[in-house]
Amino acid sequence: MNQSIEILPLKFDRPYPFVKWAGGKSQLLSVIDEMIPDYFDRYFEPFLGGGAVFLHLVNKNRIHAGAFLSDLNEELVNAYKVARSNVERLIEILTTYERSYKISPARFYYDLRDSTTPPSNKAEWAAKFITLNKTCYNGLYRVNKHGRFNVPMGRYKNPCICDRGNLRNICNVLRDRNIRIALSDYKRILLENAKEGDFVYLDPPYDPMSATARFTGYTYTGFNDKDQCNLAELVKRLDERKCLILLSNSNTPLIKELYRDYKYIKMVSTTRAINSNISKRNGHTELLISNYRI
Ligand SMILES: C[S@@+](CC[C@H](N)C(=O)[O-])C[C@H]1O[C@@H](n2cnc3c(N)ncnc32)[C@H](O)[C@@H]1O
Repeated sequence: MNQSIEILPLKFDRPYPFVKWAGGKSQLLSVIDEMIPDYFDRYFEPFLGGGAVFLHLVNKNRIHAGAFLSDLNEELVNAYKVARSNVERLIEILTTYERSYKISPARFYYDLRDSTTPPSNKAEWAAKFITLNKTCYNGLYRVNKHGRFNVPMGRYKNPCICDRGNLRNICNVLRDRNIRIALSDYKRILLENAKEGDFVYLDPPYDPMSATARFTGYTYTGFNDKDQCNLAELVKRLDERKCLILLSNSNTPLIKELYRDYKYIKMVSTTRAINSNISKRNGHTELLISNYRI
């Protein structure tokens, strides 16, 4: 452990994440920025979420040889694909949703969330997902055992549901034919594709700081201690392949033990927005671990 630093918010240019995502990396960007390798081939972000680090690299013009973006959340991945292939239709639907929300927020939110009629196409599905994300409690993603989104409405005065300019910027970025978007478990995408010189940023669901702090949203299956161990095994294999690996996780005994052989570790203090109790949102420390010299 060689450093403990406070986070300074980094002002970043557009495009920026089009979803609010638990564990989003926007507040850690200034620290992550210092840890990006000087040279790398392709970029992999297999726990994509809001994609804050990918977009940061795009804004810094650091993606030269393509990128593999993936996540196991099907609705999230569909939204990225629609933002790439059908952004104007997406904007049209979001505009009507935004209007209806303004007329009667709670009624619109719960009708949309609880509707049993499946969206008739991928653009509608993406619009529903983005609208709920922008208006639900804290941007949380949580589904019940039937796979139905069950987060209550958030308290927003005037949420921006349709951020046209940003969606068009995102579309421009994703249209590059060297950018691949996939619905995939992290293991499959990395084992099948990552090779020497590629930069892999891993931001898995965090190991909980306490037994009651586990956030198992994002996907119905969750991410437990066994998954953290499997991930550490995979990191070892990627290290043997000479990939450049940067991983973020919480500062817990399990994570310190799993990555004890990695020399380059930074400890950072963060605010975790996921806790419903504001007083408990402070004082977390996270680890940034890499297998290359910074
Ligand atoms: C901490 S979030 C990533 C946040 C992201 N870095 C950001 O800036 O928004 C973890 C992500 O991992 C995804 N995930 C969970 N289990 C996964 C798995 N087995 N394979 C791939 N993705 C997974 C979740 O859907 C979630 O989007």
